[in-house]
Amino acid sequence: MLKKTEQQNLLLLASKASECAYAPYSKFRVGSAVLFDDGSIYTGCNVENASYGLSLCAERNAISTAATNGKNSGLIAVAISSPDSKLCYPCGACRQWISEFSKDAMIIVENEDKTPLIHTISELLPHSFKL
Ligand code: THU
Repeated sequence: MLKKTEQQNLLLLASKASECAYAPYSKFRVGSAVLFDDGSIYTGCNVENASYGLSLCAERNAISTAATNGKNSGLIAVAISSPDSKLCYPCGACRQWISEFSKDAMIIVENEDKTPLIHTISELLPHSFKL
């Protein structure tokens, strides 16, 4: 389990990433920060498109950036933050993406009172699809 300060730091980084969100259509900004077992952290924001279905979620952008930097194992935690909603849980597609990289990853969202709330990815997506 991560220390409270580590959880808060990840939420802070996710919140900073949300400032870069490109969300002219939904106006719903999201940021994510993903932590690996070597201490490395990658962030991502949502990036929308005029062809709505092509929009990318913040979590998948953060995970893609991690993979692009050679991190595709040892995922420990995924923090998600939105200035437009508290308790911003990952969508179903992002849950499947997270479960690809870890069955034990902690998902950290922000409570109404700004405190971190933690679930495991297996709690949020039991019986995820596997080949
Ligand atoms: N979004 C995310 O970035 N992550 C999620 O897990 C759910 C939704 C984004 C996609 C879209 O740009 C906006 O939120 C509204 O759906």
